[in-house]
Amino acid sequence: MDRYAVIGNPVAHSKSPLIHATFARQTGQSMTYEALLAPLDGFAATVARFRDAGGCGLNVTVPFKLEAHALTQRHTPRAAAAGAANTLMFDARGILADNTDGVGLVRDLTHNLATPLAERRILLLGAGGAARGALLPLLEQQPSRLTIANRTLAKADTLAGLFREPASHHGVALAASDFAALAGCEFDIIINATAASLSGQIPDLPSALYANAALAYDMMYAPADTPFMATARRHGAGRVADGLGMLVEQAAESFFVWRGVRPDTRPVLASLRDWSAGG
Ligand code: ATR
Repeated sequence: MDRYAVIGNPVAHSKSPLIHATFARQTGQSMTYEALLAPLDGFAATVARFRDAGGCGLNVTVPFKLEAHALTQRHTPRAAAAGAANTLMFDARGILADNTDGVGLVRDLTHNLATPLAERRILLLGAGGAARGALLPLLEQQPSRLTIANRTLAKADTLAGLFREPASHHGVALAASDFAALAGCEFDIIINATAASLSGQIPDLPSALYANAALAYDMMYAPADTPFMATARRHGAGRVADGLGMLVEQAAESFFVWRGVRPDTRPVLASLRDWSAGG
């Protein structure tokens, strides 16, 4: 059987083994998928061991996505743009690094949440790795405007600078801002790609922004509303959503990259939702 795994530290909590086992059953693929704990200073060695033992590919999670990108010279355009990799594929030529996070986000928004992004005004909160990974796939959807807002303006400026060319290619007005300067602006979709939810915090946004938004989306997920979702709901966002769908969709895209088969994500997302609500 072909072997795959998710590599991280910590990794025991990962839902990826469950998701990929379900995809494999659903599509009749003969494969195994495990969770692989790598020491913080032993990522490359753990990848090499897995590959030498016949492994076919890996998903990469915290904190190794940058190291995964640096492991190889072969990147898909979306991994190159993200500067990070969440998917590795092993072949006769070595390692190919891909990044399916941004596409997973876009597919969750456009398919699962039925929210087209073309001609919409998007506010992307955060300027770290999560925001960077989302940028190219978001720009490809040709929103009318994409504003990157960050607590630290300089980081938003730098990130916007990296994506000027694809933004202009796709006809998107790309801007950088801090949170305070957003007062008086209007956006259709607000995406939280900050790490604020991890510490139970929310980005300090002018609260009027939420009332104008049709959708407030948190890349984090939790059994109940995240603090960002609760705030957006309280201030009148049309709809709020967490990132569980993004998790399932990035997994489906990795599965497709490895196996050439696209699983049906809806039943998997529905059962994860039930499971998460129950436990
Ligand atoms: P990740 O890979 O998850 O994006 P990261 O690269 O460390 O993690 O980036 C974290 C992002 O969350 C940054 O944009 C950070 O803002 P700063 O650049 O100002 O540090 C943002 N962030 C973290 N905690 C936050 C908070 N409490 N409020 C607003 N933004 C926060």
